[in-house]
Amino acid sequence: MRYNLAPIPCRPWTLNNLSARLIESHYENNYGGAMRRLNAITEKLASTDFAVAPAYELAGLKRDQLTALNSTLLHEIYFACLGGEGKNTESMLAVLANDFGSAERWRAEFTAMGRALGGGSGWVLLSYVPRDGRLVNQFATDHSQSIAGAIPILALDMYEHAYHIDFGANATAYVDTFMRNLDWKAIEARYSDAKNAPGPRELVQEEWADVPAVGPESIKAMLDSGTPVQVIDARPRHYFTKSQEIMAGAKWRDPDQVDAWVGELSQDKPVVVFCAYGFHVGCRTAQALRSKGFDATYMAGGHSAWKAIGGKLEMPT
Ligand SMILES: [Fe+2]
Repeated sequence: MRYNLAPIPCRPWTLNNLSARLIESHYENNYGGAMRRLNAITEKLASTDFAVAPAYELAGLKRDQLTALNSTLLHEIYFACLGGEGKNTESMLAVLANDFGSAERWRAEFTAMGRALGGGSGWVLLSYVPRDGRLVNQFATDHSQSIAGAIPILALDMYEHAYHIDFGANATAYVDTFMRNLDWKAIEARYSDAKNAPGPRELVQEEWADVPAVGPESIKAMLDSGTPVQVIDARPRHYFTKSQEIMAGAKWRDPDQVDAWVGELSQDKPVVVFCAYGFHVGCRTAQALRSKGFDATYMAGGHSAWKAIGGKLEMPT
């Protein structure tokens, strides 16, 4: 395939203190140059015989492809962010306040990151992470290092070619000028698109419809706050006997002998059950307890998830 150049979306002659000469040079030489490299690399890859191509040659091509592809993508966002008066929209102010504590705090971090790249090079991006449903500021040096699956909605180019013609080495003045030229309506539209894009498929274990699952973080919060709860480690006997540890505060009970130990439990306090990974055994045990009238749930992800969140462990007795 061939990649096609996008026309410049902002009007260079309308920008405040960013000269048409600077913007033209940036668009033609840097964005255009990246697009030309990307097409040349793409053609080279299309004609490469991967069975015999030297590893160093392929590695170089793929590295350059990543750099050129991301450079074109980020430059398009950069130019599309310009052309406004820097006045934020009410809607984006609310979003930034929600995700960063306040819009001022977001701006302070974003502009400080830009200044921190003065004399160096790289991008500062405001990106939406669909998995988390929130925005984050990030660096993207060498036109890459983007957060996996994140969608950039605002891109600040901190390579010297983006400002040297107008500002010399004064990166601080450039960052301030960039912020004054932002088109927040366009940024809001990109945020809206990002928010509506499908996120990554949620990682779920096989459903056990009748038994409610509680995440390990919630269980930890319950225990930390002193909420009265009975925690049962129901890992299979063969698994538990080889284990060197148990969740602090939990009691191991054999999931195959529920009737033998159910009498120890109080009906007045909730019960949390877990097994090794949160599949069948914990669910089945929780379900058995629910059928006997207990307020029983199982810990999603089991013992392994408890360890993964850094939950406290102790030696089994
Ligand atoms: Fe650039």
